[in-house]
Order: sequence, then structure tokens, then C-alpha cells
Amino acid sequence: MTSSTQQSRPETRLPSAPGAEWWRSAVIYQIYPRSFADASGDGIGDLPGITSKLDDLAELGIDAIWLSPFMTSPQKDAGYDVADYCDVDPIFGTLADFDAMLEGAHARSIRVIVDLVPNHSSDQHVWFQAALAAGPGSPERARYIFRDGLGENGELPPNNWESVFGGPAWTRLVEPDGTQGQWYLHLFDSSQPDFDWTNEEVREGFRGILRFWLERGVDGFRVDVAHGLVKADGLPDYTPPADAASMGGDEQNVPYWGQPGVHEIYRDWHGLLAEYDGDRALAAEAWLPSPAKTALWVRSDEMHQAFNFEYLETDWHAPKLRSVIAESLAAYGAVGAPSTWVLSNHDVIRHASRLALTTESPQGNGIGPLSEAQPIPELGLRRARAASSMMLALPGSAYLYQGEELGLPEVVELPDDARQDPTWFRTHGERYGRDGCRVPIPWTADGSSYGFSASGASWLPQPPRWAELARDAQRGQSDSTLSLYRRALAERRTHALGTGSLEWIDEYGDDVVAFRNGAVTVIANVGSTPLELPTDATVLLTSSPLEDGAVGSDTTVWLVGGA
Ligand code: GLC
Repeated sequence: MTSSTQQSRPETRLPSAPGAEWWRSAVIYQIYPRSFADASGDGIGDLPGITSKLDDLAELGIDAIWLSPFMTSPQKDAGYDVADYCDVDPIFGTLADFDAMLEGAHARSIRVIVDLVPNHSSDQHVWFQAALAAGPGSPERARYIFRDGLGENGELPPNNWESVFGGPAWTRLVEPDGTQGQWYLHLFDSSQPDFDWTNEEVREGFRGILRFWLERGVDGFRVDVAHGLVKADGLPDYTPPADAASMGGDEQNVPYWGQPGVHEIYRDWHGLLAEYDGDRALAAEAWLPSPAKTALWVRSDEMHQAFNFEYLETDWHAPKLRSVIAESLAAYGAVGAPSTWVLSNHDVIRHASRLALTTESPQGNGIGPLSEAQPIPELGLRRARAASSMMLALPGSAYLYQGEELGLPEVVELPDDARQDPTWFRTHGERYGRDGCRVPIPWTADGSSYGFSASGASWLPQPPRWAELARDAQRGQSDSTLSLYRRALAERRTHALGTGSLEWIDEYGDDVVAFRNGAVTVIANVGSTPLELPTDATVLLTSSPLEDGAVGSDTTVWLVGGA
């Protein structure tokens, strides 16, 4: 890392003036640890692997990293099934490895956010094991949501709720004495029992977990399924519409999503984080019907940020993009919070494929060889580069998902026997799930796992044509996707776009998203008619080469100056 990079970045622990905290404008890079870099050689990425790549992240120019879970877990849902919230799973390393990674990141002025999974634990968590042993009516069972079944002998589940991963959201126990027993709720896999957040012991337990990681020095938390913790009283039946997204999204009044009782929990956590120095932050993973609803999660005494999934789910369509951007800035601005922007993560089809599918594919279903929806690769990459260039010019905070800076597509051709997402198993292969966006990323054009693993092993097979997408193949090539991201991040910093404001430019017509952010003019041509550039403008960046000096279709340019 160069010393100039170091100088231009703020110290991670210096307090900022209210309104200028780092999380208002940060570019946060999501690391999915099992697929990032594998130092141990077992084919699964780990914390020492992350530490070994911190210089690459500093070179990219991001402000913070968010790590998907690396805590002790049987890995039934790739770590989102936590058995011990205050320890590192041996496949990822040790607490000492975590400390070394954190120190290395902070030394490069990169902040670190960890994933907190409060909606459910693993069924291997000591609390759930104690609940099984203790029996109905016990305080141990009261930490989770156990109920007697319906029907003459309790043979029917307590209500009709479905798991996000498919199948019923309830599983019946065999009690310690061998009889058929109570049912427990799991909105996700049967190995992920939901906590009962009306129980003060659960609340206190999570305060302790927050403190554990804050005291180790983390800069904040990404809160998993933040819209799910509180369930409606009486657990009433609910049947989602047939075309509903698996995590809710556009549904209203769902008895397990977005219940008002969650806000009190986040106010409590807000106060707890404020006891620590350094502007620690909470980011909500909450799939809610609109930015206006999501904005309630980031009122000034609740979370600091929420993922803008409405933006992620917007088609590559200029009027829709303008409208979601305007709606987001207004809704979050009204509560004094930054908007966030995100295009990819470990749960959705990578945007280099998603933005050019032959037909729609609902969120969470994934795509595979037999899906009706198939990506059009070249168009997808061109649009992804244009979309990312537009996103990184917007005021607020942006999230990147590992590998998007390389232009990685969704891996469609995974063999059935390699798939590991519980969605695939619980729907008997009807929904492919999310493995296609989780394939270990390529670092080098050579080597049997493209430099991912010291041994060449990889927990999901990597596709044959990834050599040209490898980081070392793209480094130093001025037209590569990696160079585009580096340029965008550097110019974003130079022109303070993250803390800027947006002023629409209307003169380019309906198929174009054009705006000014401070000194920078951004023109995204989402249509097919080439656009002439203003005279005398200096091009800071273009997502695809200009065509005879004009901005071609599916291309974003950043300009300064010009009439
Ligand atoms: C969140 C995570 C997802 C996980 C689920 C259950 O949506 O992002 O990966 O499967 O929660 O924890």
C-alpha cells in the first residue's frame, strides 16, 4: 500500500462531527469468508486468507469490510446457523486470527463490520440443546418458540407458516422420553430455530454478544434478518402471494416480517454501541416493501444504515432507476440517515448476470442449467459495469460484494451434487438457491483454484473460463473491470461523492439517468440511442469505450467541466 493512500484515509478511531460519520458515505466490501481466500488449503476460505489479501483491498480503495459469519457453526447454512456467537469456527481459524485480521485492516484504515445473526441460532447452540433436554414449559424452551401442535394428538404444526428455504417453518420433536412432542419454529432451515425475542434472557444474551465483539474492536454489525425478530402475537396463519419473494420484500402485514416491536430492540442496541468510541454502526438486513418503510429502521436512535434492497431489485430501466433513487434519497433523508446502494450479495444472482436474464427469476431461487431464465453474458457484464459506475457516484454509502470488482458472473453450471444451499435440499432441487454467487473467487490466472487456495482445492467447483477474470490478469489493464472499480473509487474519494448531493439533469430524455453530484456529471445511457457529450467536458471515467466520442447504450460516464 502506498503512503499517500494511508494519508488520505481517516484514522479509524477518531470521532467525527455528527453528520459526518464514516458510515454515511463509506464503500463497504462484503467478504464471504468461505469463498474469499483459503490460507489453510482445505478448500474453504479463512481469516488468515483475508489477512493475506488486505493490501489488495486497500489498493481497491474501499473504506470498510463486512464479513459474513465466521463464528462456530455446523455450517448447515454456511455459517448463518451459529452455535457459539463468541468464538471462531475452526474452519475459519481462531480468535487470535480474527484479532490479527482486524489489526491489519485497521492499520490500513479499513473498518471491519461483522455479521450478527439474532433471529435464530444453530440447533447445536447450548441453549437449544438445553431446551430439548428440559422439556415443555421449561425456562430453557422459553428462549425459543416451542408450541404444542394442533389436531387431536398435536400432529399438525401450530400454524401454516412456510420456511424461507421451502417446506414448513415448524419441526416436531421427539421428546427425551421418546414420545412425539412439541413443535419449534424455524423461519429458515430446521437446523435454525428462531429465538423468542419477548424473552429478556435472549435480549440480555445478545447485549453480551455485542459487547464481546465491540470490545475486540469491531466497527459495527450487519444485522441478519433484522425484520424477523418479533412475531405477531398469537402467531396467526399467513399465506404469502404466489409470486412473493422469499424474504418478504414487497409484502405488507406479514406476521413474521417487519413487526413494530423490533424498533425497541434496535434502540436498545443503538444506546449500547454509543457507549463505545469510534462511531460504531449497525446495518439492517431488512427486506421491506419500500424505502419509506425501511427508513423507519434507521431513525436517529435506531440502526445507522439499512440495505437498500429496493434499489438492488430495480430493473435496468431508466425511469424505474430514477424513481427508486429519488424515493430512497427522500425517504432516508427525511429521517437524517444516508441511503445505501447495493447490487449484489451472497443471497442474490450476481448483477453481471441478473441485469441481462432472458426472463425474470424471483429473488432467492437462483439459476441453474435447467432454469428458464438464463444470462446473456456480454450484455450482463456491460450493464453491470454501467450500473456499478452509476451506483458509485450516488451520495450515501455503497456495498460491494466480493468478486463484482472482477465482473464475475453467476455460476450457472454447478453440478447438482456440488450444491450446498439448504434451499436446494428443502425444495428437492426445485429452486437452485444461492450457490452460484458463492463460488470461490479467482486471484491468479494460473493455478488449479485460480490462487484461491494454497492447495488448489475449492469447496465449490470454479468454472473453466475464469483465468481471464482473475485479479492478476486484470491488474494493470486499463479497460478491465478491476481498473474501472479502482478508478471509480478513487474519483469518488477525490470528489467526495459519498457526502455529496444529487441534482437531476433532465435534458437527455427518458432512457437516460443523468445527474450532477458536486463537480461531477454522471450520464448513464440505459437506452439504445448514442448520446453526444457536452463540449469541453473532461471524461473521468467511462464504463465502456465511447463510440465516436458518444456514450453508447448501457454505458455510464463521469465528467467534469463542459458546457
Ligand atoms: C440472511 C442471510 C442468508 C441466510 C439467512 C438466514 O438472509 O443473508 O444468507 O441464509 O439470513 O440466516
